[in-house]
Amino acid sequence: KTIIVKIDKDNLKDDFAVSQLEKAGEIIRNGGLVAFPTETVYGLGANALDEEAAKKVYEAKGRPSDNPLIVHISNLNMLDDIVTQVPEVAKKLMDAFWPGPMTLIFNKSGLVPKGTTGGLDTVAVRFPNHPIALELIEKSGVSIAAPSANLSGKPSPTMGEHVIDDLDGRIDMIIDGGMVGMGLESTIIDVTSKTPMILRPGFITYEMIKDVIGEVGVDKAILSKPTADFKPKAPGMKYRHYAPEADYSIYRGTAEKVADKIIMLANEKADKGFKTGVITVDQHLNLYQRKLNKDIMVVSLGNLDKPETIANMLFKTLRDFDKAGTKFIFGEAFSQHNVGWAIMNRLTKAAGYNIIDV
Ligand code: TXA
Ligand code: MG
Repeated sequence: KTIIVKIDKDNLKDDFAVSQLEKAGEIIRNGGLVAFPTETVYGLGANALDEEAAKKVYEAKGRPSDNPLIVHISNLNMLDDIVTQVPEVAKKLMDAFWPGPMTLIFNKSGLVPKGTTGGLDTVAVRFPNHPIALELIEKSGVSIAAPSANLSGKPSPTMGEHVIDDLDGRIDMIIDGGMVGMGLESTIIDVTSKTPMILRPGFITYEMIKDVIGEVGVDKAILSKPTADFKPKAPGMKYRHYAPEADYSIYRGTAEKVADKIIMLANEKADKGFKTGVITVDQHLNLYQRKLNKDIMVVSLGNLDKPETIANMLFKTLRDFDKAGTKFIFGEAFSQHNVGWAIMNRLTKAAGYNIIDV
């Protein structure tokens, strides 16, 4: 049976919080699994240096065993045990963005089992910026391997409720710390190559990274659909991730044209009796008003001028459509600037690369 506790991240000195985090730390130390909030998405944690514990993570998620886990630390000294060397560029990035939503790929030390790294000689490390995550790592006394706390293939969880939906009964404990701050997984940067390379876009943007280290590459797989010729460098990026159950398609063009197209297609599906949804933004809601079949669920992800609001609602919205039994989702595309790149990367994968220019 899974222990489920609610903890207020701003009140960790509270007796209940202290005792529950101690219990959670003990579970991790003893090889068990605890889901916990981070500032990006919820993670499913296990002792990173315990091969058996890592195995349980793959089982609980139904995750392919070649997809490596991210190791979470709560202070820089913990790196010494995990990696062979910290390159100069990595130091600069760490100074600028840790603790925070950035994961770095290093060459792994002998202490890190291949069960944690999906068989690779490199290891992904992140120093999260969330009081519960940090306290859990401290209390457990070990670094914590944690993929996102969803069943493999589902959108990453941004609320305790999402974790409960996916993992209740499959893990030892779930710490519900409310809605996460960001809602998109960390930016992953490989610092083992001569020119560091972005493997997954996130809140730490291409521009921000460039400002700190000058030169940075981008894994081809982020920009287009992986083919037989090239494989993404982050094994996880090759799977159809973040996917809702519905047939989801994205339309790109001027707001009015996109809205007209979506209205036509959505009404067609709804008239045939299919549960249908539309994804838009605050600024465009008026374009759909009174033109859509009344059974269609229209959701605004947020304000175009505040992309962080959009990032925050994205996975929750996809999950809500699943819960409603939605069969078709029609959505707008976003500009790929700054955080928009990460947003479009996730949406594109959720839509199975189904993007249509209008
Ligand atoms: O924000 C986050 O990063 C969240 C929270 C929980 O910290 N974690 C997360 O983990 O998103 P996960 O497992 O869902 O995604 C990890 C990604 C996968 O695409 C995986 O392939 C890649 O990181 N990765 C891990 N280790 C790697 C390595 N050694 N080389 C290349 N890619 C790696
Ligand atoms: Mg994931």
